[in-house]
Amino acid sequence: MTPPSDKALVPFVSVENMMRLVNAMGAETVLRELASYIEADFKRWPEFDKTPRVASHSTDGVIELMPTADAENYGFKYVNGHPKNMKEGYQTVTAFGVLSSVANGYPILLSEMTVLTALRTAATSALVAKYLAPKGAKTMAMIGNGAQCEFQALAFKAICGITTVRLYDIDPAATAKAARNLAGTGLTVVACKTGEEAIEGAEVITTCTADKQYATILTDNMVGAGVHINAIGGDCPGKTELHRDILLRSDIFVEYPPQTRIEGEIQALDADHPVTELWQVMRGQAEGRRDPRQITLFDSVGFAIEDFSALRYIAEKVKGTEFFDMLDMLADPDDPRDLFGMLQRAG
Ligand SMILES: NC(=O)c1ccc[n+]([C@@H]2O[C@H](COP(=O)([O-])OP(=O)(O)OC[C@H]3O[C@@H](n4cnc5c(N)ncnc54)[C@H](O)[C@@H]3O)[C@@H](O)[C@H]2O)c1
Repeated sequence: MTPPSDKALVPFVSVENMMRLVNAMGAETVLRELASYIEADFKRWPEFDKTPRVASHSTDGVIELMPTADAENYGFKYVNGHPKNMKEGYQTVTAFGVLSSVANGYPILLSEMTVLTALRTAATSALVAKYLAPKGAKTMAMIGNGAQCEFQALAFKAICGITTVRLYDIDPAATAKAARNLAGTGLTVVACKTGEEAIEGAEVITTCTADKQYATILTDNMVGAGVHINAIGGDCPGKTELHRDILLRSDIFVEYPPQTRIEGEIQALDADHPVTELWQVMRGQAEGRRDPRQITLFDSVGFAIEDFSALRYIAEKVKGTEFFDMLDMLADPDDPRDLFGMLQRAG
């Protein structure tokens, strides 16, 4: 059989190659560079096609497609969220994605996105905190010490100057795992026995738990004036982390309101409760933190443009490296109309 032509081949970044790339560059460098790609795309927000993600819910989880496009590229991510997976030895969140050329619709990159989602979520959180966290914040409470945890901690170190993370998880084994992985990163790591202990002295509180219910990871009395809350784990209808009273005391910042109103912490509020769009803060069109006593809340759900930025970044970074394979993914008959003939001749 004749080998596939160049037009048939699409660069593919496997999990192994993603890990080789990140380890070759250093995770903190990747997080910083990724955050700058995400920031650049947030600053040109009106140029993108936007839609709330397309979610298929079931008893135990959700499977979602997250598309967006600008004038040059189209991107989408396939991602699941199944909190019970972890106990059965599977990831809670796993993903892959595609970046294509708008000009002819051909994919230009296929990539694993499980590792990349953890990186892009952390880079987005830290980028947002750069605008919202109290000036000079050094300590972050990290509640939920699962797959996303260390990425969040490192991003806040690399991008916001956090020096201490205070870890808490209902499962002490998760905290021990995170503490082990973060040893030697330069962060001071404090393992805590309760959520209350974790938030002691923290200027930033990250909640990153997985539970398919209206959970109360933070109660109102736990949140003092002036903190920034980075709420990651409430990202589905019926799956939230914060007591409603915290929302009522906070200034709330979101990615894309039509999606966040369905999936975020703000599903507990009236549909017209005021929120600020982050792209407007990044463009200087809306205020971020204005007062040292203000509670700021990033109601993170994860939006398609962040994945688009991540795919755009990886497509650039793997160019000229060995960190990808070429996949025979697109049929390329000699005559574009002779698809059937190509099949026949291969028999
Ligand atoms: N906003 C986004 O962009 C985004 C992106 C990725 C993941 N997520 C969400 O982040 C969350 C964490 O993802 P993950 O991959 O780290 O999941 P994971 O299953 O690996 O870890 C979740 C951890 O939360 C802990 N936990 C559960 N309930 C708790 C509680 N009441 N108090 C303290 N800890 C508790 C579990 O023991 C576990 O260690 C999930 O809900 C996921 O859907 C959001």
